[in-house]
Amino acid sequence: MAEYVHQLPKSRFLLFTTVCIQTVLTLTTHAPPDCPLPLPCACNGNQQIVYCSNKSLSELPPIQKSEGKWTFYLDDNRIEVIPDNYFSGVKVNFLSLENNDIHTIGENAFQGSEDSLNYLHLENNSMTELPNAIGKLRQLTAVSIQGNPMVDLTETVIRNLTSCLQLISFGSKSMTKWPKNINFLINIFSIDLYDVQYPELPEDAFSTFKDNLVFLNLYNTGLTKLPPSINDCQNISSMIFQENKKLSANSITKSITRGFPFLTSITFQDNGLTTLPSIFSKSTRIGRIVVRDEPILYLRDDTFPQHLSKYLHYLPFSGTRLTSIPSVLSNLDSLTGLSITNSQIQEIQDGDCSSLFNLGVLYLSYNPLSLISENAFLNNKQLGSIALDHSNLTTVPKALKKALSLQTVDMTSCQVECSCENIGWIKSWKSIPTFYGSCYNLNGTSLMIYITDQIPKCP
Ligand SMILES: *[C@@H]1O[C@H](CO)[C@@H](O)[C@H](O)[C@H]1NC(C)=O
Ligand SMILES: *[C@@H]1O[C@H](CO)[C@@H](O)[C@H](O)[C@H]1NC(C)=O
Ligand SMILES: *[C@@H]1O[C@H](CO)[C@@H](O)[C@H](O)[C@H]1NC(C)=O
Ligand SMILES: *[C@@H]1O[C@H](CO)[C@@H](O)[C@H](O)[C@H]1NC(C)=O
Ligand SMILES: *[C@@H]1O[C@H](CO)[C@@H](O)[C@H](O)[C@H]1NC(C)=O
Ligand SMILES: *[C@@H]1O[C@H](CO)[C@@H](O)[C@H](O)[C@H]1NC(C)=O
Repeated sequence: MAEYVHQLPKSRFLLFTTVCIQTVLTLTTHAPPDCPLPLPCACNGNQQIVYCSNKSLSELPPIQKSEGKWTFYLDDNRIEVIPDNYFSGVKVNFLSLENNDIHTIGENAFQGSEDSLNYLHLENNSMTELPNAIGKLRQLTAVSIQGNPMVDLTETVIRNLTSCLQLISFGSKSMTKWPKNINFLINIFSIDLYDVQYPELPEDAFSTFKDNLVFLNLYNTGLTKLPPSINDCQNISSMIFQENKKLSANSITKSITRGFPFLTSITFQDNGLTTLPSIFSKSTRIGRIVVRDEPILYLRDDTFPQHLSKYLHYLPFSGTRLTSIPSVLSNLDSLTGLSITNSQIQEIQDGDCSSLFNLGVLYLSYNPLSLISENAFLNNKQLGSIALDHSNLTTVPKALKKALSLQTVDMTSCQVECSCENIGWIKSWKSIPTFYGSCYNLNGTSLMIYITDQIPKCP
C-alpha cells in the first residue's frame, strides 16, 4: 500500500490522502453505534438491528451499552431466562424472542426501555403467566404470546396496557377459557387467536372491540362457531381462518348474520371447509378472497352476490376439490384473473367462463383437466395468458383459438402428442400464442419449435 502511494505523482498523492482523511473523518463523525451483543451475533449499526436468531444460545450473551433505539432478533434459540436489568444500557424498540424456552422474565428485565419498547415477540416459549415486566412497558403497541402454557392473561399486567396496546396475538392449548381480562384492552384493533381448544367463545367476547377491531385472525382453534358479538364489529376489514378444523362453512354463515361492509380481505386455509360460507353480501369493498388447501367440493349460488365488488380483480384458489369452475364465479364481473390450481378440475364447459368478460389470466395448473370444450373461451376477449400445465391434456385445445387476445399458453408437463393428425389444425391459426411445454412423443422436443417448424408442413 505505502509503495503504491509513493509511485503516485505528488498532486495525486495529495488528493488521495485528502480523500482518505475525509473518509476517516466521515466514518468517525457518523460512526454507527457499537453492536450491543458480541459474536456470534451480528449488527447493522446504521439501522440499529442486532441479528442473533438461531445461534443455539442457551442464555443471553453479555450486553454492552449503546446509543439509539435498537431492534433485537434473538428468536429461535434456547434462552430460558431474561434477567433483571439485562437491557438497561440499551434502549430497545423491537424485541424478537419467539421460539425459545423462556420461562422467567425478571420484573425489571426491560428497565430503561419502558418508553421505547413498542413491539414484543414472545410466542412459542414456556411462560405460564404474563410477566410483570410487560406491564411496565408504557408504549407497548403489539405483543405476541401465543404458544405459551398460559391459562389466563394476568389482570394487573393487562390493566397497565389498557391505553397503549393495539395488537395482540395470544392463545394456547393451556388457555382453557376465553381470558375475560382482555376486555381491559379497549384500543385493540388486531386480534390473532391461536390454539384454544374450547368450542365456543362467550357471546359478548368481542363487544369491547366493536368500534376498533379491524383485523381478526383465528388459527388452529377448536371453535365450532363464532360469538354473536362478532356482528357488532362492523369495522372488520381483514380476516384469516386457518386450521380451525371444527368450524364449518355453515356455522360461519350462521354466526355472521350482519356481514362486514368494510371487509377488504379474507383468507381460508386448511380448515377442512367443503364449501365457502355465504357472508359476503355486504362486503362491497372486498378485493381479496384467498382459498388454500380447503377440500371445497362446490360453491353455493349465494356465496357471491352479483356485482359483489368492483375491487375484486383476482381470485386465487388452490388445493381445493372442485371438479369444475363453479358457476357462481360468473357473478364476479370485475375479475381479471382466476386461479384454481392443485384441484380436481376435469373439464371446462362452454358456459363456465362465458360471463367472465374481463378475464385476462386463467391459471389451472395441476388439475386432472382432460377436456376443454370448443367455445369455452368465446367471450373471453381479454384473455391473454392461460396456464394448463401439469394437467391431463394430451392435445392443444381448439378452444384456445377462439380466445382472440391469447399470448401465452403454459402446457408444461402435459403429454401432448405432436403430430399433424393431432394438432395440425394450428396451421390455420392467425396469431399463434407462445406455448411452453414439450412434445411427449418426440423426446421432449419443444412444443413451440414443433409448432413453428413442423406445423406449416402439415397438409
Ligand atoms: C437454524 O439453523 C440451522 C443451521 O444452522 C438451519 O438448518 C435451520 O433451518 C435454522 N432454523 C431456523 C428456524 O431458521
Ligand atoms: C411456533 O411453533 C409452531 C409449532 O411448532 C410453529 O408452527 C410456528 O411457526 C411457531 N411460530 C413462530 C412465530 O415461529
Ligand atoms: C403497572 O404500572 C406501574 C406504573 O408503571 C408499575 O409500577 C407496576 O409495576 C405495573 N404493574 C405490573 C403488574 O406490571
Ligand atoms: C368504525 O370506525 C370509525 C372510525 O374509524 C368509527 O367512527 C365508527 O364508529 C366505527 N363503526 C362502527 C360500526 O363501529
Ligand atoms: C391424470 O393423470 C394422472 C397422472 O398422469 C393420472 O394418475 C390420473 O389418473 C389422470 N386423471 C384422469 C382423471 O384422467
Ligand atoms: C429418442 O431418443 C432416443 C435415445 O436418445 C433415440 O433412440 C430415439 O430414436 C429418439 N426418438 C425420437 C422419436 O426422436
